[in-house]
Amino acid sequence: MTTTICSMKKLLGFCLFCSCLTLLACGGKADSGDGFRVRGVNLGGWLVVEGWTKPSLFSDIPNKDLLDGTFLRLKSVKSGKYLCPEKNGERVVLRDANNTFNPIFRLWRINETTFNFRLHDKRFLGLRNGSPCLSHASKSAGPSETFEISRHHHNSTQIRIKASNGFFLQVNNKKGHVTADCEGDSDWGNHDPSVFVIESVRQLDGEYQVTNGYGPIIAPKIMWDHWNTFITEEDFKFMSRNGINTVRIPVGWWIAKGPTPPAPYVGGSLQLLDKAFSWALKHELKVIVDLHAAPGSQTGSTVSSSRDGFMEWGETEENIQETVAIIDFLTARYAKHPSLYAVELLNEPLFPDVSLEKLTNYYRAGYYAVRNHSSTAYVLLSNRLGWNPADPRELLPISTELKGSVIDVHYYHMFMEIFKSMNFKQNVDYLYTNVSTELNQLSTPNGPLVFVGEWATDWATAGFANATKEDYQTFSKAQLEVYGRATFGWAYWTFKCELRHFSMEWMITNGYINSGSLTGVSSDASRRSGDTIRIFSKLSADILKLQDKRILALLNLIGPIFIFVSTFCIVS
Ligand SMILES: *[C@@H]1O[C@H](CO)[C@@H](O)[C@H](O)[C@H]1NC(C)=O
Ligand SMILES: *[C@@H]1O[C@H](CO)[C@@H](O)[C@H](O)[C@H]1NC(C)=O
Ligand SMILES: *[C@@H]1O[C@H](CO)[C@@H](O)[C@H](O)[C@H]1NC(C)=O
Ligand SMILES: *[C@@H]1O[C@H](CO)[C@@H](O)[C@H](O)[C@H]1NC(C)=O
Ligand SMILES: *[C@@H]1O[C@H](CO)[C@@H](O)[C@H](O)[C@H]1NC(C)=O
Ligand SMILES: *[C@@H]1O[C@H](CO)[C@@H](O)[C@H](O)[C@H]1NC(C)=O
Repeated sequence: MTTTICSMKKLLGFCLFCSCLTLLACGGKADSGDGFRVRGVNLGGWLVVEGWTKPSLFSDIPNKDLLDGTFLRLKSVKSGKYLCPEKNGERVVLRDANNTFNPIFRLWRINETTFNFRLHDKRFLGLRNGSPCLSHASKSAGPSETFEISRHHHNSTQIRIKASNGFFLQVNNKKGHVTADCEGDSDWGNHDPSVFVIESVRQLDGEYQVTNGYGPIIAPKIMWDHWNTFITEEDFKFMSRNGINTVRIPVGWWIAKGPTPPAPYVGGSLQLLDKAFSWALKHELKVIVDLHAAPGSQTGSTVSSSRDGFMEWGETEENIQETVAIIDFLTARYAKHPSLYAVELLNEPLFPDVSLEKLTNYYRAGYYAVRNHSSTAYVLLSNRLGWNPADPRELLPISTELKGSVIDVHYYHMFMEIFKSMNFKQNVDYLYTNVSTELNQLSTPNGPLVFVGEWATDWATAGFANATKEDYQTFSKAQLEVYGRATFGWAYWTFKCELRHFSMEWMITNGYINSGSLTGVSSDASRRSGDTIRIFSKLSADILKLQDKRILALLNLIGPIFIFVSTFCIVS
């Protein structure tokens, strides 16, 4: 009797095993085909700097409020009016702030005291034909577009600007415009026509700013220190221990340009990417290489290392070919590495500035560049992102065409207008209704897989609402549940960040994200059963890899026969 019950249990177990196997094998088709789903984290701010993840990286830059891409207005202390270029580029005059012409200058930094001033029409301030007359006609910045800024010792917002002819700019009362013909020192008084006040409107704090800010002598040391300390093998151990199975690694285009990339970039990030691959292999993580910063900047922001806030990626065919060549380089390097899981062709191209047509053409070329080296790496296509959302389904046609491509959507409950007035509950509701619906719309039969490649546990009104730890726990749990349905998986933004809710390491260490919930297991016992499931899914994945449905059919056939035979043996 006892033996029969035992045998029955074994039998039941085997039946379960068989159905599990079939289920997993078939279910595999709904996700990435090998039964694997990304539970990932981004290594943001590492090989592409974003100041907000680590502000201290900028702290020793001299004149660090005058970095590349600082948007500023220049006001004459004497007249209280603003420097403003005239439309024809001939002269620079003084106007009230809210005039039709946009009086905002974007700095290009040569060194800590020497600058170019770029305007909204991409022309530069300069001296006209060697005369002292200030104009803004040139499309490029040469010596006559170069100015030296000196600051008041006690008040750094007050400046004087020396032009290439050796004279300071001043407001010329008689002519009503600005000329470079002021000689000598100033007492910095309010009557001095050569004193201007800087009103800083916006700053960029990306890789361009930090490397050019420190300059060619200091920047290499700063960057190597950062690369070697910000992310280490310990972090890969931590991720692996806490249920993370993939890292998405943002890289910049200069990674493909050898040990001496174009100034101001520092060479060497490729060595760190190599290291990341070897740590990933050792700690059983997969790697997604993500081209986060493309030449010319596809976002016009810090995120893609813009110099001055203009989105200039894709403006020429050469620029697109250069980008494809970077994808080619990266894939060629890692295609044979067992940890390479996917290549992302371009992160968050700006909507609507990057046209869908241009993007689609690039995605097709980039896809084939990857396929030239790897038939298995997934190719990730990031949706366009902007202040207004693009149609989230716009990449469905191209991604359906390109086998093994994945649509990458990014979900942040901030930035966009709609989140600015949502309370906590509305954020959670939005997740379960609107985001869920969107994910469903993207998951079409025979369509591409879907990846939530960036998200974080924060929402626009969290700070004002004095959100509690429980709120954060609830929100991360809800997001994990909804994004967990994405067929390719998800990745948190980011692993380390001084804004702690954006740091997955901090969130896990402090119990804001339950790492047990990442694997769906909490106790040792269930972890063991998790291992069993993993073995099953590995087995089913191996079967699937044979890509032969007949084997599955055979398995389904053999299973019941085998059960029947063993039942017969046990009973008799
Ligand atoms: C801004 O423009 C408005 C009308 O266009 C005008 O009334 C106002 O005086 C201007 N403000 C300044 C500071 O010049
Ligand atoms: C900055 O660059 C200018 C122009 O190249 C040069 O004359 C000046 O000496 C430099 N200053 C510093 C501090 O390097
Ligand atoms: C610096 O100069 C600006 C412009 O003249 C003035 O508004 C500001 O109050 C000054 N700051 C200090 C600390 O004196
Ligand atoms: C793929 O490789 C072939 C042969 O090396 C080359 O001619 C072609 O340009 C490559 N295609 C892409 C998209 O990189
Ligand atoms: C979210 O979805 C609901 C229900 O479909 C809809 O009424 C609402 O307008 C959506 N909210 C936003 C902000 O799109
Ligand atoms: C709650 O939030 C408000 C607005 O940000 C802030 O001024 C206040 O200090 C916060 N209170 C607590 C207890 O954190």
